[in-house]
Amino acid sequence: MLLIAIVVFLLTAGFLFHWGQRARRAAVANLPGPYCFPVLGAVQLMCKLNPKTFIKTSHEQVKKLGTLQRAWVLNRLLIVSCDVEFNEQLLASQEHLVKLPAYMVLGQWLGNGLLLSDGKAWHQRRKIITPTFHFAILEQFVEVFDQQSNICVQRLQQKADGSSIFDVYPFICLATLDIIAETAMGTKVNAQMADQMTPYVNAVNECTALFAWRFMSVYAQNELLFTLLHPLLKLRQSKLIRIMHEFTTKVIEQRRQTLEKKQQSEDSTVESEQVLGKKRRMALLDVLLQASVEGRPLRNDEIREEVDTFMFEGHDTTTSAISFCLWQISRNPEVQQKMLAEILQVLGTDRNRSINIRDLNELKYMECVMKESLRMHPPVPVLGRTLKNDFKYTHSTLGDGVIPAGSEVIMGLIGMHHQEKYFPEPEVFRPDRHDHEERTSSYAYVPFSAGPRNCIGQKFAQLEMKMLLAKIVREFELLPLGEPIEMVVNIVLRSDNGFQLGMRRRNLSI
Ligand code: HEM
Repeated sequence: MLLIAIVVFLLTAGFLFHWGQRARRAAVANLPGPYCFPVLGAVQLMCKLNPKTFIKTSHEQVKKLGTLQRAWVLNRLLIVSCDVEFNEQLLASQEHLVKLPAYMVLGQWLGNGLLLSDGKAWHQRRKIITPTFHFAILEQFVEVFDQQSNICVQRLQQKADGSSIFDVYPFICLATLDIIAETAMGTKVNAQMADQMTPYVNAVNECTALFAWRFMSVYAQNELLFTLLHPLLKLRQSKLIRIMHEFTTKVIEQRRQTLEKKQQSEDSTVESEQVLGKKRRMALLDVLLQASVEGRPLRNDEIREEVDTFMFEGHDTTTSAISFCLWQISRNPEVQQKMLAEILQVLGTDRNRSINIRDLNELKYMECVMKESLRMHPPVPVLGRTLKNDFKYTHSTLGDGVIPAGSEVIMGLIGMHHQEKYFPEPEVFRPDRHDHEERTSSYAYVPFSAGPRNCIGQKFAQLEMKMLLAKIVREFELLPLGEPIEMVVNIVLRSDNGFQLGMRRRNLSI
């Protein structure tokens, strides 16, 4: 009797639940999508998704159903789009700026930092932080890029025997960590000097792999269900977050102390700079330490969440971008030769001459190589938005439509970058295609996203990439040794088996 009552209750609840969604179902009836079971939705597809299968499964779905699709997962309506027309309208919108609920798996780590926040908090912070990536500041940062790239090149010498196969990722990772700490945070962490992966970097790697799995799981996105069903993983996650927070707290403390010590001499420097009519620009952490919002200084936890956000975004994305690029260069000898010719022409052979921002701006072919690598392997392969209001779109083939409020939109940047229509033979690495860009839409290529929530560190990342690539390619011949990359989405796109290649020191006297 009890069993019958439970079954009747579940069936009635399921029916009412399904009935309640009819208006939303009707709104997206014009969009194709995978088969969705009543109440449960597209569980058969969700079960297939994990960080390793994500790219392949998404690619197959696009081939089968097209670039704009809808899918139900329980009561969640997901719009999955690598449709350039649709994404352009959403990315450019000033209204739909709220991230996906799934991003909140990162919440305990990154808090209300710029990547995750929205509304007034996001506006205020973006306004404070934007000037800290101004051209004049980047010009000063290039000196640090130059010095830290030299250390990276020195460290790579040990592998450059022409036959060793190695993963270049850890070398780049420590260099980019040193760079973001010394530039944006004004603190030297000497990660490259320590000559081993720091606990912070190991924690980031392990934690982002865990977060990526949670991101793609139907139930583990929910903190309570994750805690109840995977208590040991939850403990591990908390420990990793503690390690990362301890590191960033130390970075902040170190900078505070340096600033206090400098206070005295700073006063006189500021005075003399004002006499000379120069206004010194402050880097990110100094600005955060002195900023006030609505008449009060930022609290320590508010400062730390921005430091966490920028330490992560500022090193993990660029490490992946540079590693993919080096791997591609090692597999494309003609591209490498052309790059080297340009590097020698612009920078010469003198390894002791420092490289400045004007030199970097002249490396035009290198820009095409970087663009092509970011097209094929965008470090941020997908973006997501939650619609707080209805989103009206127009489409040349699907007609006009409305995505109802409450829907979650997942935009596949990697899917857009691999469309034959915009990039003929998309699987071929061909930097020349960026030489004379004639795409019908500039939104077909958006590795740094676009619109109001685009990447604030874009210019920083491009200059840093150029510096490291220029120094490495000038010093070493990259050799196609080792296994091919295997893409995995660990929040940032990486290779599951590393970025294997070989190196041989060049004789630059030729
Ligand atoms: C090649 C390297 C990089 C790539 C491909 C990249 C890409 C992106 C993308 C696609 C977004 C949008 C994310 C979203 O909407 O969910 C983003 C946002 C962001 N990026 Fe980057 N990024 C890179 C490097 C950097 C660097 C070096 C920094 C900092 C120094 C940085 C800081 C940020 C921040 C703070 C946001 C959030 C901005 C906001 O929502 O207002 N990124 N990035």
